[in-house]
Amino acid sequence: MLVLGIETSCDETAVALVKKNECKFGGKTIKEIVFSQTKKHTIFGGVVPEISSREHIKTLKKITQRILKKTNVKISDIDAIAATCGPGLNGGLLIGSNFAKSLSIGANKPFFAINHLQAHILISRIVEQIEFPFLVLLISGGHTQLVIAKAYNSFEIIGETIDDAVGEAYDKTAKILGLGYPGGPKIEMLARKSKGENIFILPRPMIKKKNLDFSFSGLKTAVRRKVEKTNSKEFTTDLAYSFQLAVSECLIDRCSGGINKFLKMFGKGYFLMAGGVASNKYLRKKMIELCEKKGMFFFAPNPKLCVDNASMVAWTAIERIINGEKGDSIKFLPKPRWSINEL
Ligand code: KG4
Ligand code: ZN
Repeated sequence: MLVLGIETSCDETAVALVKKNECKFGGKTIKEIVFSQTKKHTIFGGVVPEISSREHIKTLKKITQRILKKTNVKISDIDAIAATCGPGLNGGLLIGSNFAKSLSIGANKPFFAINHLQAHILISRIVEQIEFPFLVLLISGGHTQLVIAKAYNSFEIIGETIDDAVGEAYDKTAKILGLGYPGGPKIEMLARKSKGENIFILPRPMIKKKNLDFSFSGLKTAVRRKVEKTNSKEFTTDLAYSFQLAVSECLIDRCSGGINKFLKMFGKGYFLMAGGVASNKYLRKKMIELCEKKGMFFFAPNPKLCVDNASMVAWTAIERIINGEKGDSIKFLPKPRWSINEL
């Protein structure tokens, strides 16, 4: 089974050809091209939707042609065409889904409208045999959620952010520190240089609250206040370290509660990290320590599969096909807001 996946929900234009393994679980990316637009958005300190749409239009067809040429695969050899249809920026979603629909009509192949968050969650199963139910910490630029994955198409959100997403907090803090966009990798790299000796006192929003929700907007504001008082190279390094430490402690507290709830319900299982922020090595280490303490199996995919990619889009279509789904109507319209509760 061979599926073409298309991802255009934010600032990456990505196309991938993914094959299901024949005799065992999982699958393999035959070829993927990710065209990152970050350089175009850097000077604005964040993603500009109009620029993002224009870039998707410019690159999507070229990338798709290159994938087919390099793999020597004809469109007629492909079993289905899948595109992210939400959540995300409407312009990008329209461009990617219309392109996929056109290919699907032209080649007479089924079209799959893919939920981006479901794709972030399921992609781990392309490489690791992780059985349902499992617990997921989904942390990206737009989302921060604790999710129980009950089946390939059934998800329960048990906690989520009441304001900024973690990735958004990293990006906004990096902007305040003058580090540029995207902020996540920049803060992680800078924090690594700190000796951790001069830790700034920053808030730990939601810690010890009974529910499992998150909050990150206060953290960024606290960083801004510190910056207004002083600024030096060393100061920025220590502040980046202190910010990441605060984020990790908030995540550990919330995930600890989530794991307790999951273990009460199911006894044992996997804890997964998903989404762009899950590529952060420091946060991964902290989550591995937490899982060891709690007796949960831990898994986080290769960083390339954490950030936005098209393999996860194609793989989600494969999971749906394995479960007997035939595809979506060409009339399916993108949903800029599309919760995984609504699948
Ligand atoms: O999943 P993703 O690629 O796109 C969305 O669906 O939002 O996530 C992008 C987010 C950005 O906010 C970026 O700063 C963050 O992931 N990110 C990181 C790291 N790499 C990417 N955050 C912290 N540490 C990283 N190493
Ligand atoms: Zn994403």
